[in-house]
Amino acid sequence: MLELKKLSMQFGALKSLSELDLTVNKGEIVSVIGPNGAGKTTLFNVVTGIYTPTSGEVLLDGKSIAGKDPADVNRLGIARTFQNVRLFLNMSVIENVMAATYANTKSNIFSSALGLPGARREEKAVRERAEELLNFFGSRLTGYRWEQPAYSLSYANRRRLEIARALATNPKVLLLDEPAAGMNPKETQEITDVIGRLRAEKDLTILVIEHDMHVVEGISDRVIALDHGVKIAEGNFDSVATHPDVVEAYLGKGSADRK
Ligand SMILES: Nc1ncnc2c1ncn2[C@@H]1O[C@H](COP(=O)(O)OP(=O)(O)O)[C@@H](O)[C@H]1O
Ligand SMILES: [Mg+2]
Repeated sequence: MLELKKLSMQFGALKSLSELDLTVNKGEIVSVIGPNGAGKTTLFNVVTGIYTPTSGEVLLDGKSIAGKDPADVNRLGIARTFQNVRLFLNMSVIENVMAATYANTKSNIFSSALGLPGARREEKAVRERAEELLNFFGSRLTGYRWEQPAYSLSYANRRRLEIARALATNPKVLLLDEPAAGMNPKETQEITDVIGRLRAEKDLTILVIEHDMHVVEGISDRVIALDHGVKIAEGNFDSVATHPDVVEAYLGKGSADRK
């Protein structure tokens, strides 16, 4: 479904990604781990068209997408969430999801504001779709919350809303950048379940960046570990979590800091 071949991304002298090879099969959940600065978010930025890779290939269903702009990559079927959540904070919860849907439909918010009949029908359909997507998160994002401004949401709910917005674009592949960051243990368990349900119920292929090892263990078919832009391990959770290079990448940083 998604294939990276010798993908490199260089900023000046810094190689944020170095000849990275990665294949994500349809229906798979793959986690990306690694210390801060390892290149994880850069990987998402290259795949989603925010950066054009210095070299290498990004293939979606066998077709090259490297160098396409983010809107085109999204239309082709890749949606993402951001490490620093990006919402329209002054818009209501439901409007946030509707706005994401409109980006993928024929008419737009302007024809809807003019009250054109076709647009009104479409607005109803877009609203119903947004409600359905929010209902995916159960009682967390339903009912009275729909009309509240996004700024009134808890941190965990902002992350859920961002996933709903990503789903509104009908992706085949979903990229989640630290979905459990800032969540308490109960919310973390919930998001673990949500990620599993996204695959089962929405037919998604998922690539996740996550620091919480309980989440990584709970969701991953496969784990890859990055350090300084290089893939240092790949395999099932146990083999990667206990891999000497991975242990050193995490602990080595600490021992270097003590010097
Ligand atoms: N636009 C950019 N310009 C220069 N350096 C960048 C840019 N984006 C990321 N980097 C650098 O690339 C490295 C990897 O960053 P990042 O991908 O955000 O790491 P991670 O998400 O694994 O913590 C860091 O050293 C970071 O400073
Ligand atoms: Mg990051």
